[in-house]
Amino acid sequence: MPKATKPTKAQRRKKVIDVLNKARAMELQAIYQYMNQHYNLDDMDYGELAGKMKLIAIDEMRHAETFAERVKELGGEPVTGHDGKIAKGQPVDKIFSFDSVLEDDTIDVYNQFALVCRENGDSVSMKIFEDIIEEEQIHFNYFDNVHSHIEKLGDTYLAKIAGTSSSTGLGPSGFAVGGEGE
Ligand SMILES: [Fe+2]
Ligand SMILES: [Fe+2]
Repeated sequence: MPKATKPTKAQRRKKVIDVLNKARAMELQAIYQYMNQHYNLDDMDYGELAGKMKLIAIDEMRHAETFAERVKELGGEPVTGHDGKIAKGQPVDKIFSFDSVLEDDTIDVYNQFALVCRENGDSVSMKIFEDIIEEEQIHFNYFDNVHSHIEKLGDTYLAKIAGTSSSTGLGPSGFAVGGEGE
């Protein structure tokens, strides 16, 4: 059997660029999904939930930019398309379980991508994944929390949210870094 040849530096770099771009496509998907839910929740008059959703979408924008900047640093081209279809018109009791699954899957995939970075000798990209995983965990905790409130308290919980303000103030910095998720 021929001996497996060691991958070249360019090949290793290509593998890292690939996972960074896959992650970027997932972020773009999440941005469109959360923006849609933000408008939806606002329409249903759940202002507070709408405002938080907007801030989380802003976090995902920051993630998408971070991945793109790293792709550029490595000499690649950031992707511009998102991953799949955007679920539209979801009722409030579906939104938060749906998003919990989305964040949980993202954490799982990013952990695998971080390993790909390590195996290919790129500790900077690995660190980017690790930092972003921490923020996805904050998103997961929030979505899961709202989901369990809706499950346990239903209308009693939702009635308290109805009519609250969706304002996020001027120049919001996001959910995970804006102090909302702490
Ligand atoms: Fe993200
Ligand atoms: Fe997230």
